[in-house]
Amino acid sequence: MMKSHKITRGIILAGGKGTRFDPFTRYTSKHLLPINDKPIVYYPISNFIKNGINKILIISDKKNIRDYRRLLGSGKDIGVSFTYKSQNKPRGLPEALILGEKFSKNEPFALNLGDHILFGKDIDIVLKKIFNNNKLNTIFTIKHTKTREYGVLEKDYKGQYKIVEKPKKTNFRDIVVGIYTYNKDAIKIAKKLKPSKRKELEITELNNILINQKKIKIVRLNNKKNFWFDAGDADKVSKISSIIKNYEKKNKIQIANLNEIALLKKLISKKTFFKTIKNKKSSYFDYLRKKYENNKNKN
Ligand code: G1P
Repeated sequence: MMKSHKITRGIILAGGKGTRFDPFTRYTSKHLLPINDKPIVYYPISNFIKNGINKILIISDKKNIRDYRRLLGSGKDIGVSFTYKSQNKPRGLPEALILGEKFSKNEPFALNLGDHILFGKDIDIVLKKIFNNNKLNTIFTIKHTKTREYGVLEKDYKGQYKIVEKPKKTNFRDIVVGIYTYNKDAIKIAKKLKPSKRKELEITELNNILINQKKIKIVRLNNKKNFWFDAGDADKVSKISSIIKNYEKKNKIQIANLNEIALLKKLISKKTFFKTIKNKKSSYFDYLRKKYENNKNKN
């Protein structure tokens, strides 16, 4: 029998100094700030649990890790498993691969930077396909105008790809979004990286090595069917909030309602679902009650 290469493990890197969210980040982590009625981190979690990842490692700094534990707990109420690891000092994004080595159990895993929002008409089809059978490393790109703020995928005259981090000028528009899949080759490379000028390990350096070694797959997301937003500062977060609110109203859905996803994906029983939403008063839970309460006794 062929060995299956299904990715069921995912890491969310929810660390960083959060300097662009001061004063909020004096008391908590930026990924716990709200986008409408849910914390930012619910969005990357939804990208995972909608598409077959049910073991999730949350990495954050020592002082904030307990806030994640309080919010997410063991994951039992949504049928997934959350584990936690604290990072002494943020040393750059590739550190997630090093800290997550034990968790990955030598199997390919997904990594999500946790401070970006990805949703739309075909993102789940694409992610499901990649997570379902994949032993490769993967980066995802989407067309974007603000190339100065992100990693940009460039191609030279020989057809060789290279990611350039936050280029002042570029003729290319495909930016790298903060979700990846990696395998043990990538962990090995991450361990050998040296800190850059800004004294951090750079994920772009890691990805460029994998590109040169032909060990990475590039998946382009359709920007007509999908939305990608960076939730990197307070202004961006308030703009995204209103875009999402309108989208949800228009489509009569909620994006990243983890309890709803757990019910629909059958990660939990109906009994657990109704027990969890009982007597809760917020709009997050009101939405669930209005939508599912009448079907309570139906199959
Ligand atoms: C990181 C990556 C960059 C990527 C971006 C996506 O940048 O280094 O390549 O485009 O995430 O959000 P950061 O947001 O940490 O500056």
